[in-house]
Amino acid sequence: MPTRAWFPTLLYHEPLQKAGLDRFNAELADECHRLRDYDAAGRRWSAKNYPGGYTSYATLNQLHKISSTFGGLERKLTAHVRRFAKQLAFDLRGREIAMTDFWVNIMPEHAAHSLHLHPLSFISGTYYVATPRGCPGLKFEDPRLSKFMAAPPKLASARPAHRTHVTYPARAGHVILFESWLRHEVAANRTAAERISVSFNYNWS
Ligand SMILES: [Fe+2]
Repeated sequence: MPTRAWFPTLLYHEPLQKAGLDRFNAELADECHRLRDYDAAGRRWSAKNYPGGYTSYATLNQLHKISSTFGGLERKLTAHVRRFAKQLAFDLRGREIAMTDFWVNIMPEHAAHSLHLHPLSFISGTYYVATPRGCPGLKFEDPRLSKFMAAPPKLASARPAHRTHVTYPARAGHVILFESWLRHEVAANRTAAERISVSFNYNWS
């Protein structure tokens, strides 16, 4: 073929670990609920900015520093982020990658999270704690979409890598990593059960 693909956008999707995820996620879900119950300021912030759901993004956003459960999860996630940074061919100039933010997201029925990106970091991601059957995945947008201008739409039969959006199903026990500038969203949860995830940012310093 005379054409080759350049400038790839990499997404990383892996189970957190090989075994023991059900028990770990059950304990983590309990802790997420306790945090929601405790975090009155976060519930108020969520009522304005995260309608129908709860996020500790604005209030309890360094959970790895205050909770041993989240601290343990941070160490496991950091191993995944190191792998991802390697695949992205980053030269970290002898510096270390470090988690800067770690927060909880609880999405009951109807809650949604509109298109956004993660400022002040270089790699971000989500770990799924509870994902009821049929709950929404994580939808990513082609970062060049704003530059397409007069381009025609893509064929319905286009290969997945050529489409303007890709949705990763939310799977409990799995980690998704992406570069922090990549815009993404979560559609409304149409199931009656809560979808629980924890999200995080990394920088290098
Ligand atoms: Fe996000």
